[in-house]
Amino acid sequence: MKRRLFAGAAAVITLAGDSRPRAGKAMSELGIVENGSVGVDERGEITWVGPDAHVPRQWRDEATIIDCRDRVLMPAFVDSHTHLVWGGDRNDELVARLRGADYEEILAEGGGILSSVRQTRALDDEALYQQSLERIARMRRCGTTTFEIKSGYGLDRATELRQLKVARALASEGGYRVKTTCLAAHAIPESARTDATTRAAWIDEICTSILPEVAAAALADFADVFCDRGAYTVEESRRVLRAAHALGMGIRIHANELGPTGGARLAAELGASSADHLLYLDDDDRRALREAGVVATLLPGTSLVLGKPYASGRALLDAGVPVAVATDCNPGSCPFENLAMVLALACFGNRLTPAEAICAATHNAAASLGLADMVGSLQPGRRADLLVLATRDVRDLVAHAASPLVEQVWQDGVRVA
Ligand code: NIG
Ligand code: FE
Repeated sequence: MKRRLFAGAAAVITLAGDSRPRAGKAMSELGIVENGSVGVDERGEITWVGPDAHVPRQWRDEATIIDCRDRVLMPAFVDSHTHLVWGGDRNDELVARLRGADYEEILAEGGGILSSVRQTRALDDEALYQQSLERIARMRRCGTTTFEIKSGYGLDRATELRQLKVARALASEGGYRVKTTCLAAHAIPESARTDATTRAAWIDEICTSILPEVAAAALADFADVFCDRGAYTVEESRRVLRAAHALGMGIRIHANELGPTGGARLAAELGASSADHLLYLDDDDRRALREAGVVATLLPGTSLVLGKPYASGRALLDAGVPVAVATDCNPGSCPFENLAMVLALACFGNRLTPAEAICAATHNAAASLGLADMVGSLQPGRRADLLVLATRDVRDLVAHAASPLVEQVWQDGVRVA
């Protein structure tokens, strides 16, 4: 590969700085270079960023030039919360919910997540890989080059491991940038719903069999638990996440989505990398998250699809909690794939400003995955994962939500869409 120079962009959104998650005012400081250029070396690493007028002579002479006049250059999106490996669909449920059926009742009656579990178990590895590949390819076309992928549609040892292997294969064979998360504690499987003994045995199995096997095969970077009403209690979640932590995995939590059920406090107690959803929080919860340095991940697409309230992004920002935004891409509560659209929802729903939402869907999402020294900003030393937008004003991503503004997607200095 030759060196490349992305030249003369109306604005380069650099988000230059260190790799810690940003909070408060720092989330609005996008480090914009007007009339700027970005140089990328033969290995796909950014080596030069600055005003176009200062581009070293050598770059102009030797690099392949990508003309970015009247365009915005920005870091590619980082989707830090997806469930994108699953089988089948739940479109019949979608219609039923639009007619008034309730998400939690559907799950309690054996549908919802459990329906996706049955459809996922029924697929062989190849079919599961192909269905997931189609999805992740569409997501990258929308501008996302880095993905967190959770298991959780297996709810048995074999299928949980298969899901994580498919997620790893999307990286090794598909060339996608992926971090994986074991979410064996997503719903209580049908087989563990008969009584307290089968339920306790399932938690045991997660802690003493599934997580150790996942760790031994290096299949997951993180573990996650759906700690909420109708799913796992705080005590069960604590046990699972402590076991995962002892095995060297990072921690993420689905918390306070359906009620003030204690998941956010648990995230703070355990020093989780991320607490996600967070529709029901009080001031003490927000203080605990800030003091523990937990990234609060907003998933406004899920609020829209389920007709739920939006998490108060403003209150989190004002409390000094670092905020990320992700799709939650899953077959039920939010099958959205377009993070640019969800970023706009974070403004209209969670009341972030466009600048805050852009930081949330790039640098902060990367920081929550431990990847901010690699992606999420445009500065020397980072990978050349970047977007060329067909506009001069990055706020158009919000003003014209879901319009096709993402014109080019680059990963490691190679154009991928
Ligand atoms: O993040 N909240 C729990 N889990 C997913 C929903 C998964 C599903 O409905 O299949 C979520 O919303
Ligand atoms: Fe989720």
